[in-house]
Amino acid sequence: QNILTQSGFMDNTQLTYPFEERGLQFGDGIYEVIRIYKGSYYLLTEHVNRLFRSADALKITLPFTKEELYINLEQLIKQNNITKDAKVYLQVTRGSAARDHVFPDVEANFYAYAQDLPRPTENLRHGVAAITIPDIRWQNCYIKSLNLLPNVLAKQEAKEQGCFEAILHREETVTECSSSNVYLVKGDTIYTHPETNTILHGCVRSRIKTLLDNHSIAFRETAFNLEQLADADEVFLSSSTAEVMPIIMINNNSVKDGKPGKITQLLQKMYEQDSK
Ligand code: PDD
Repeated sequence: QNILTQSGFMDNTQLTYPFEERGLQFGDGIYEVIRIYKGSYYLLTEHVNRLFRSADALKITLPFTKEELYINLEQLIKQNNITKDAKVYLQVTRGSAARDHVFPDVEANFYAYAQDLPRPTENLRHGVAAITIPDIRWQNCYIKSLNLLPNVLAKQEAKEQGCFEAILHREETVTECSSSNVYLVKGDTIYTHPETNTILHGCVRSRIKTLLDNHSIAFRETAFNLEQLADADEVFLSSSTAEVMPIIMINNNSVKDGKPGKITQLLQKMYEQDSK
């Protein structure tokens, strides 16, 4: 497959890095996962804007302008004949240089590749199980950084307990999941953590908010706690790969009757319509 780098397109087998690379040695970089439906990008502007915000926060100079990136990302889809549902993974690191915590004076390393990724239809229909686990991440989770150890450990713990996701909490407050945002439904109101520095500002999350503008279902950016989570009418998560996914079981207790809820299903329909 053709992979996009700061030196142009190349075959993925030709991309190599020196052993002294900031992403490898320090996790000193950022990334995005962008959804493609039927060969077209979904929420591309939101992802590109977030990438630039992450770079800014970490003082990484991106080796392209937004305009250049848009053109190259379209090329990436074309060159790899992506016509179905897929994703693009994109990462930028501070570059390759002799190991030193201090920033080196080198160009950033960048690559992006596209891969087919079918929609998770079974899980979307039936819902998934989750565990709750303490959020041990740093204070700047709004930056989509390559430092994903707490996320990896949380997701692995979920997997080992037969679950799809780990719902993270700081003290009693639910923040988000290991690789998705999380929502609670009570009555006809949806609650989710506000866009502070302790959660990733999800692109699907912000789209859900827009879709619910002027809707009878209220979207409230108010954090909820573990007790409220256990007493929810519905719980769901969102991400570019998982879409709007019902959570039907938490820590082995079913959410209400253990079936995807009405409001979650309505949102799934709205999302599907929007991403067509
Ligand atoms: N994860 N929160 C975290 C911690 C995430 O890693 C993600 C995305 C989200 C949802 O963001 P968005 O709606 O923009 O996809 C929330 C991606 C998919 C990943 O790491 O694979």
